[in-house]
Amino acid sequence: MDKIRTESDTPLHSLKKIWAIGGGKGGVGKSLVSANVSICLALMGHKVVAVDLDLGGANLHTCLGLPIPQMTLSDYISKKVTNFEDLLVPTPINNLKIISGAQDELGMANLKHMHRNEIIRKLHELDADYIIFDLGAGTAFNTIDFFITADKGILVVLPEPTSIENTYRFIKSVFYRRLKMIDGIAEIEPLINESMNAKLATANQTSPSDLIKKISDINPEIGHRIKNEMAQFRPNLIINQVRSQADIDIGYSIQSICRKYFGIEMAFPGYLDYDQSVWQSVRKRKPLLIEYPNSRLVNNFDRIVSRLIES
Ligand SMILES: Nc1ncnc2c1ncn2[C@@H]1O[C@H](COP(=O)(O)OP(=O)(O)O)[C@@H](O)[C@H]1O
Ligand SMILES: [Mg+2]
Repeated sequence: MDKIRTESDTPLHSLKKIWAIGGGKGGVGKSLVSANVSICLALMGHKVVAVDLDLGGANLHTCLGLPIPQMTLSDYISKKVTNFEDLLVPTPINNLKIISGAQDELGMANLKHMHRNEIIRKLHELDADYIIFDLGAGTAFNTIDFFITADKGILVVLPEPTSIENTYRFIKSVFYRRLKMIDGIAEIEPLINESMNAKLATANQTSPSDLIKKISDINPEIGHRIKNEMAQFRPNLIINQVRSQADIDIGYSIQSICRKYFGIEMAFPGYLDYDQSVWQSVRKRKPLLIEYPNSRLVNNFDRIVSRLIES
């Protein structure tokens, strides 16, 4: 497996922050969150680049009130554009630029290894205080790797069973991908594969946290290293389209299930109310926070962003 960088490789003095917004499913609000978190940060005076990495379903520009940008990541992959910075498109919001995703299914979805690592490197080199990745749906390698290379991973979840299931599936993919990236663990790889291929439903005996216990029994040194590495995996949860307290409580349940099942600590920086202003702003092709400054979502986003900055 090729080595890609993870947040632990980022030098301590680096002030640039990369936040990746994912979630196992389409239509949960990843682009809405990416756009408005970016706007919040830009309004605070930070230099922000929002990057649409939804390969084949790019729509971040719409959430920011922009037409389809002329240059997209496809043009860089096909070498029509050679200077990565030429992909940066200004937005009507001060301090905020966007890099648009591929408009064609083939472009980014087929992104090969080499290209992917090169794009990850170029993205990390961008001149900004915050770089926000708007990820695609699903658990494709590309998406998981973009998520893993970020300083912060943020998962958007709807309070409904399919979205929650997809979230666990996403966390599971990231968990095992991170596990397999740890150097010098070939000896226990069969054990990892066996646990990875077990169904979520039959997980009681073979949960990822049980796996780590088992590894520690076999080889305490490797077990220790894995525990240290996994302690750094702290995804942030946002429950979107909340209509009741019960919906908000789903966030706490997910946290507690992830603690038991994966042995990981998730942060829950907040939720977003279900609000008509969202689709109204989408229909008007205007950014929500700018078009509806009195929407409840403004407070929701303020709280989420300040908690994310603090953590
Ligand atoms: N908090 C919300 N309140 C009302 N509608 C929402 C909310 N969040 C998302 N939506 C609706 O869901 C649609 C999909 O959101 P989007 O951000 O495009 O999802 P994704 O990027 O995950 O595919 C939006 O166009 C909007 O109509
Ligand atoms: Mg999207």
